[in-house]
Amino acid sequence: MPPAPVSDRLPVFPWDRLEPYKTAAAAHADGIVDLSVGTPVDPVPELIQRALAQASDSPGYPTVWGTAALRDAITGWCERRLGARGLEHTNVLPVVGSKELVAWLPTQLGLGPGDRVAYPRLAYPTYEVGARLAGADPVVYDSPTELDPDGLRLLWLNSPSNPTGRVLGQDELARTVAWAREHGVLLASDECYLELGWEADPVSVLHPDVCGGSYEGVLALHSLSKRSNLAGYRAAFMVGDAAVLGELLQIRKHGGMMTPAPVQAATIAALGDDTHVTEQRERYAARRTALRGALAAQGFRIEHSEASLYLWATRDEPCWDTVGDLSKRGILVAPGDFYGVAGERFVRVALTATDERIDAAVRRLSA
Ligand SMILES: Cc1ncc(COP(=O)(O)O)c(C=O)c1O
Repeated sequence: MPPAPVSDRLPVFPWDRLEPYKTAAAAHADGIVDLSVGTPVDPVPELIQRALAQASDSPGYPTVWGTAALRDAITGWCERRLGARGLEHTNVLPVVGSKELVAWLPTQLGLGPGDRVAYPRLAYPTYEVGARLAGADPVVYDSPTELDPDGLRLLWLNSPSNPTGRVLGQDELARTVAWAREHGVLLASDECYLELGWEADPVSVLHPDVCGGSYEGVLALHSLSKRSNLAGYRAAFMVGDAAVLGELLQIRKHGGMMTPAPVQAATIAALGDDTHVTEQRERYAARRTALRGALAAQGFRIEHSEASLYLWATRDEPCWDTVGDLSKRGILVAPGDFYGVAGERFVRVALTATDERIDAAVRRLSA
């Protein structure tokens, strides 16, 4: 008998369920306002485009570990922006966008049946996918330090959170790092929204006040998709425990998981510039204020959302009712149950639409 398809282990791809609502929203006379998938819509900053173009004559294979210049750019940025100290190149690993890393980390760590992988009760679905691809057991938590450590091999944190926008405080992070070390659990902190704090200043696990100046048992995952509008480039990296990253480097070399050379060059340019990040933040801040006001005026309550690219909103009704109602107004949002059953009375509203589309959404909500 042929083996069962691997896809049988995975949840149903949720976005397919949204298609009828997308069709309904697209029927609006003035077109759809799509606030469902958080995909960047603003231009790739000129200096990044230039760096990519200048590196376009790259006939040879890139390396998985990236150029020394890329590793310098990553350690430099982590020290300047995150307050990390004493990082070496061995603490760095480029990845091909952070989603592939989330999906394949348990497998590349050699986890399998009997091992447990934990992530927040409301979370980006790929943490569960990663556990299932490896054949490990996915476990959700409300508070990570209350988990049963037995068999727990990998603990995901995500601050700021997708979908809730919640930010974990420095003390909470430090306590969790200490707990994970005490129990020999590898802690992976997905920090891809770290530069998008609005009413909170997100802290990295790499900060000495959190990790105690040692990277043992700790990994931070960063992505340029959101901060630099580079989702189309697939640019991300991990920083932390040199022993774990050294092992992953070996596996990923065998697997050919290389960031293309022009993307490596573009990443160096992006990490060296803060101006475009500030400009992009201002765009999102204005959109957030406009949408938040319009949703509140319509009776929505916004929870958390102090950071990230989303508003986590509820009208205290089933999420699919909210999705259906908004789709009739030409607005598409993501149902909260995509992120776990605990989200079944919330919707996630992304800030990733042009100013013109956000204005249209505000007008429609206020009509
Ligand atoms: C929490 C979280 N992690 C990782 C990713 C993946 O981002 P990328 O693969 O573009 O780096 C996303 C994308 O939305 C996300 O929300």
